[in-house]
Amino acid sequence: MGIVRRMTIEDFGDELEVFTASFEDSWNRYEKDYYPRKALEFDLQQHNPENMKKTLEEPNSFRFVIEENGKIVGGASGTILRGNDIEGGLVRLSSIYIHPSHQRKGLGRTLLNHFIEHCKQQKCHKITLYTLPVLIPAMNLYLKLGFVPEAYLRKEWWNIDFLKMSKWL
Ligand SMILES: CC(C)(COP(=O)(O)OP(=O)(O)OC[C@H]1O[C@@H](n2cnc3c(N)ncnc32)[C@H](O)[C@@H]1OP(=O)(O)O)[C@@H](O)C(=O)NCCC(=O)NCCS
Repeated sequence: MGIVRRMTIEDFGDELEVFTASFEDSWNRYEKDYYPRKALEFDLQQHNPENMKKTLEEPNSFRFVIEENGKIVGGASGTILRGNDIEGGLVRLSSIYIHPSHQRKGLGRTLLNHFIEHCKQQKCHKITLYTLPVLIPAMNLYLKLGFVPEAYLRKEWWNIDFLKMSKWL
């Protein structure tokens, strides 16, 4: 059912392939008529070695990968938002993705459960994320693991509607 571990910079090449395949596939299947292509390209460009190195060194950020048969097939990342060194305890789940050929096998659920447990161990009280109302697989996964819609954000980034979903720990 997949093994979750912390990501290291040496994982970057393999992880990038999975990240790109997952988001390209999702865009083609669910987002094409909703999320501008230039927005996807911007997101993909942000996933570069320089930013990755920074994130992995940032003490309040964390990244997990999930492996099957020793191969990376998914990942998730988050940041604990503390603000002025005060332990704010709010986590932003920035991304979660499973390679298209490994989806619907429970790996996303395993990865997100691991993420939630990590946040509980860090004594955080809330996880929040931004998603698109057209991302049915992701929304179902979040709802199954206890996230609820907290706000509907009209014409947010890229002039499109986003959904903020949260889970209180
Ligand atoms: C969202 C995602 C991570 C789910 O990963 P996964 O490994 O396929 O999910 P799981 O097999 O663990 O499924 C868990 C639950 O998610 C929901 N789900 C997953 N895929 C689904 C689909 N194609 N259609 C509807 N619901 C789906 C179901 O509720 C499922 O529970 P069930 O199997 O008991 O019905 C994966 O679809 C993905 O990588 N999507 C592209 C990237 C993305 O959208 N990320 C989130 C951006 S906000």
